[in-house]
Amino acid sequence: MAEVIIVKDQEEAGAVYGRAVADLIKAKPDAVLGLATGSSPLAAYRALARIIHDEHVDVSHVRGFALDEYLGIPLDHPQSYHSTIRRTVVEPLGMDPNLVYAPGDLLDGAPLSDGKRIAQAGPAYDRAIEKAGGIDVQILGIGTDGHVGFNEPGSSLASGTRVKTLAEQTRIDNARFFDDDIDKVPTHCITQGIGTILKAHHLVLLAFGSGKAKAVAETVEGGVSAFCPASALQLHPHATIIIDEAAASRLCHKAYYRYVYLHKPQWQGI
Ligand code: GLP
Repeated sequence: MAEVIIVKDQEEAGAVYGRAVADLIKAKPDAVLGLATGSSPLAAYRALARIIHDEHVDVSHVRGFALDEYLGIPLDHPQSYHSTIRRTVVEPLGMDPNLVYAPGDLLDGAPLSDGKRIAQAGPAYDRAIEKAGGIDVQILGIGTDGHVGFNEPGSSLASGTRVKTLAEQTRIDNARFFDDDIDKVPTHCITQGIGTILKAHHLVLLAFGSGKAKAVAETVEGGVSAFCPASALQLHPHATIIIDEAAASRLCHKAYYRYVYLHKPQWQGI
């Protein structure tokens, strides 16, 4: 199963991610980072940016692949994930924007009716990830309904990158980014599949706050089920779940996770 690390707050979680990724980039200057949007990874990106700056880490060859994208809004829309990843990751880290890709890059506002173009974009994205040698570290948030990327409950655990319909709960959760108006939230997206995500070499899922507690408990201690897509992490040989006390509040085996982490040899990293 995944390693569960319970931390004080987002800053501490960010420091754990930042250290691991900075060390990876030092060892592999053209590392491939899997990038996620949402509020959960923000402290992690900030921590990584600080280490990169303080330790003069060269990120000019680091490559990036975003997890997902809304359909039907142009790439330069401030809430497109293309724009969000540039604003929250590429610029603060100083990455080369030409080495960072998002699954909607080939679509740029293409309407849903443009089936042929949209259908080709998913497999093309998976091929690009494969050609890059796969994703070294994929950062993930989790939706309140257990979605990862935009793989909503019911998503195939073997899925590749493809178009999905957003669940109503996700549109409600994300309306805060669209003037609190659910009608402005796109109804569809293109997302790395669960099968795509499981191919990354290391998965790091971050979750904070009591709103995520149920999804986290189902992910870590529930059965593997398409109805909690994040539970597929149980199938991955190297998955790390970093959460705060509130997000951990519904876990039964907290004491065990703490014990294991406390006794973990430093050299193992995460
Ligand atoms: C969106 C994204 C997910 C993200 C989720 C949770 O739905 N597509 O990748 O994990 O939001 O966001 P937050 O971290 O803001 O709670």
